[in-house]
Amino acid sequence: MNKLLKEKIVSTFLKIYKSQPLVIFSPGRINLIGEHTDYNDGYVFPAAIDKGIIAAVEKSKTNYCSVYAYDKKEEYQFNLDSIEPIPNGGWRNYVLGVISEIQKKGIGLSPFNIVFGGDIPGGAGLSSSAALENSIVFGLNELFQLELSKKDMIFISQKAEHNFVGVKCGIMDQYASMFGIENNFLHLDCRTIEAKAYQIDLKDYELLLINTNVKHNLSDSAYNNRRSVCENVSAMLHKKALRDMTKEELLSIKSKISEEDYQKVLYVIQEIDRTQKAAEAIENGDIKKLGQLIFESHSGLQHQYKVSCDELDFLVDKAKESHVVIGSRMMGGGFGGCTINLIEKDQINNFTSEVSKAYKKKFNNECSIYQVKLSNGTHLVR
Ligand code: GLA
Repeated sequence: MNKLLKEKIVSTFLKIYKSQPLVIFSPGRINLIGEHTDYNDGYVFPAAIDKGIIAAVEKSKTNYCSVYAYDKKEEYQFNLDSIEPIPNGGWRNYVLGVISEIQKKGIGLSPFNIVFGGDIPGGAGLSSSAALENSIVFGLNELFQLELSKKDMIFISQKAEHNFVGVKCGIMDQYASMFGIENNFLHLDCRTIEAKAYQIDLKDYELLLINTNVKHNLSDSAYNNRRSVCENVSAMLHKKALRDMTKEELLSIKSKISEEDYQKVLYVIQEIDRTQKAAEAIENGDIKKLGQLIFESHSGLQHQYKVSCDELDFLVDKAKESHVVIGSRMMGGGFGGCTINLIEKDQINNFTSEVSKAYKKKFNNECSIYQVKLSNGTHLVR
């Protein structure tokens, strides 16, 4: 966690609201493999990171709530009895959505003040939104002793995103952000919401993120559209989710669906399988195999599921050409954000300087390089 940011958030809170707040750190996440599988009841392999959202929260003596977004220098005040989504409301809808979902459970809240800020660039595909939602629900749970479990809280965060932001996301981001374990990846079964933690020995390799610094429009509608394709095709075979469908079963309805949809569903079935194979590779200490599965995942996301973009493909191609990166793929929802790379430790500087130059030349835009540590999930900061 960023200590400097914490100090800034707390001093801003003291300055505006004149009381000592509770402070929460809620991390962003990365995902090793298992993309667009969570809302198909499949498996994912995320980890919480040392970057995220810091929120300061305390009860208010007024009869309204006030939330200050430190990074944007924007304040928003509202009453708890009139919580509605705001058209193009940006960050406000994440906060309001969480409050609304708490209220839907019949839980009454009293006015409060919040200051929040973060150190994950928005649009990087590192789940700043889940980190924000979790920080709010966790903070309110502590402040008002609501006795919500961590599982209750992640579902509140997820529904906030569905109902107030309009993205029908799965549970991976909220889970990883809430339940993260320092130095561990979480092999999560998105049906049972049970995870096995893995402390992975990457041997001569390290994880490296490269941010394209782009976020293409329409990514939200494309996301929801992919999700409905998956749901419609699984309904055709009366399956609860694509997790329950085999390649053979999919083949049996191939003539009834478009080639595009066939490829999308095939991708999901294959990606769920790859995620299981990744767990095996890790257990066998076979990091090269893990890397190969990561490359295959990107190829599926690019050609079958069609959620990549030129900038991401360029970075993955460069990684492949380099021979020092043994696995690379886009991460998260797609259409921009970061690639995740498994790279030879002592080649990081050479590779990053080469790829940065090439990226700049091709897109006339900078890419950013991040190295992250795996962190604990959402928690109070003393
Ligand atoms: C976004 C969503 C997640 C997940 C990923 C793709 O990050 O919030 O639920 O579906 O995309 O794997």
